[in-house]
Amino acid sequence: MQAAASPATSSIPALQADAVSKAFVSGHLRTQVLDNLSLRIEASELTLISGPSGCGKSTLLAILSGLQKVDSGRVRALGSELGQLDMRALERFRLEHTGFVFQGFNLFPALSAFEQVELPLNHMGLSRDDARERARRSLDEVGLSPRMKLRPSELSGGEKQRVAIARALAKEPELLFADEPTSALDAANGQMIIDILHRIARTHGTTVLCVSHDPRLVVHADRVLSMEDGRILSDRRNQTPVIDSKVVPP
Ligand SMILES: Nc1ncnc2c1ncn2[C@@H]1O[C@H](COP(=O)(O)OP(=O)(O)O)[C@@H](O)[C@H]1O
Ligand SMILES: [Mg+2]
Repeated sequence: MQAAASPATSSIPALQADAVSKAFVSGHLRTQVLDNLSLRIEASELTLISGPSGCGKSTLLAILSGLQKVDSGRVRALGSELGQLDMRALERFRLEHTGFVFQGFNLFPALSAFEQVELPLNHMGLSRDDARERARRSLDEVGLSPRMKLRPSELSGGEKQRVAIARALAKEPELLFADEPTSALDAANGQMIIDILHRIARTHGTTVLCVSHDPRLVVHADRVLSMEDGRILSDRRNQTPVIDSKVVPP
């Protein structure tokens, strides 16, 4: 499964969708959410998919990560064809190879920052010592070591999102999916989050796929795909993406 080589040395993209279509039907109403969409996401980059609310971004993330099935078309992730995996194999794939960050942080109110990060590592079967060590390292990487004993109610929005990133990062996933990770945050915190995601792609070789309708993020990504009405309209590369190291926590 370790197919996440750099794009220069590998012709296998980290993620690939071929002619993917998806519709939702409720009663007589049929909504075509993804319409014959194809894309390739290269490894070790921060790719941003931007587009207006309702254009299908979250559905696309769910499909590329194996959470939802396509009506037609094909999805490959790290070289595996997701449509050919049964439920169990898909669950395993998500547990071992993917991390998620959401707009609403999805933290447990009763757990400390440290416990939020440690919990999924126990599910992955790591020893208690290894899990604790990884949790400490990940929280340190997002600048939260001094606050790791605090619960969500004692943390700011930006800090909560950094906990969520540490939780995803600690799994050491090849694929990191972020759905509107900055939408609940002010500009400074939003920029810190996107810079951390960028740094993760650079230093860990993680493939980071972020979807957002926030136009401020566009300059920070390695590559920007614009989406509208279930299709990719444009695909452009930032030769020198903006990474403001000043806002990355110590
Ligand atoms: N489970 C679902 N059942 C019915 N309609 C859905 C479902 N999920 C998404 N949709 C519809 O699909 C469209 C795209 O949704 P979504 O992928 O969430 O867009 P975005 O993330 O870009 O805002 C919307 O019209 C939404 O209402
Ligand atoms: Mg969405």
